[in-house]
Amino acid sequence: MQTDRRRFVAGALAAAALPAAAAAQERLITKPIPSSGEQLPVIGIGTARRYEAAPSEAEKAPLRGTLKRFHELGGKVIDTAPSYGQAESVVGDLVSELKIRPGLFLATKVGADSPEAGRAQIEASFQKLRTERIDLIAVHNLRDITNQLATLRGMKQAGRIRYVGATTSSDNQYADFEARMRRETLDVVQVDYALDNRGSADRILPLARDRGMAVWVNLPFGRGRLFQATQGKPLPDWAKEIDCTTWAQVFLKYVVSHPAVTCAVPGMAQAKYVDDNLGAARGRLPDAALRKRMEQFIDGV
Ligand SMILES: NC(=O)c1ccc[n+]([C@@H]2O[C@H](COP(=O)([O-])OP(=O)(O)OC[C@H]3O[C@@H](n4cnc5c(N)ncnc54)[C@H](OP(=O)(O)O)[C@@H]3O)[C@@H](O)[C@H]2O)c1
Repeated sequence: MQTDRRRFVAGALAAAALPAAAAAQERLITKPIPSSGEQLPVIGIGTARRYEAAPSEAEKAPLRGTLKRFHELGGKVIDTAPSYGQAESVVGDLVSELKIRPGLFLATKVGADSPEAGRAQIEASFQKLRTERIDLIAVHNLRDITNQLATLRGMKQAGRIRYVGATTSSDNQYADFEARMRRETLDVVQVDYALDNRGSADRILPLARDRGMAVWVNLPFGRGRLFQATQGKPLPDWAKEIDCTTWAQVFLKYVVSHPAVTCAVPGMAQAKYVDDNLGAARGRLPDAALRKRMEQFIDGV
């Protein structure tokens, strides 16, 4: 009796563990950084907001669970910034505690008004992220970009950082952003793009392709706006054609199927969101015709 019960419990646990284990073994869709050919999974983690406050031990648990699950499933890219409160320290502490640094691609930003302030901020990022090499540092929202790029290029040459980039998330910076993209050599540009926010697809995304720059997408859910727009609505039939079982996967597959986009960095602070969102890095992606239908759908909501 006891043995049967034990066998039953063991069987039930194995059955419950199966989808997670199977998911962990399924390779994620990757795309290359054009300047190097290095492949990155198309879904990363954004750390604005939910990682900003200094967490108590209890508050750290879900963040630890998020990063652990992300790494288990083959996730690599973590996007943070010195201006996200304690986020760099929170990420650095958890990554070190989980001993997962070698598998990750750590990206942060510099947002300062002088070369000296920028250098001091970057040194602090190395400390907080607890790493000797940062994979990408991008100039945050074009701030003091000429000076900051000079510093970053020196650091790249010295082997302390691997890639250099620039970010924006607001369309009133797009003209300046494009001008910089035309005249600078950048490995990665980061810009806002979402199913209901497609302005960067007019010129920035095609320009990035022409210039051989990787595109990382911030705000892929419009800070949750897309979930509000579709709340209570069933998934359209076409979601099956691209292996989506949730709205999050629909929104992310739209973004990462753009030919210029390398990856998206949705804000994620719960392991269940990691399971959901990394589902967008598996299965079929929409082709141009289905992308059109997705746009028509959201425009009609
Ligand atoms: N200029 C820049 O450089 C710049 C600007 C903005 C953002 N960024 C980067 O982009 C990242 C993403 O931006 P964001 O986090 O503000 O906005 P976002 O990714 O568009 O949306 C995040 C929101 O989506 C929710 N969410 C995530 N996965 C979900 C799921 N599977 N199901 C339901 N809800 C889900 C989260 O919920 P909860 O609230 O429950 O966690 C959060 O509220 C930032 O973290 C940052 O790294 C960069």
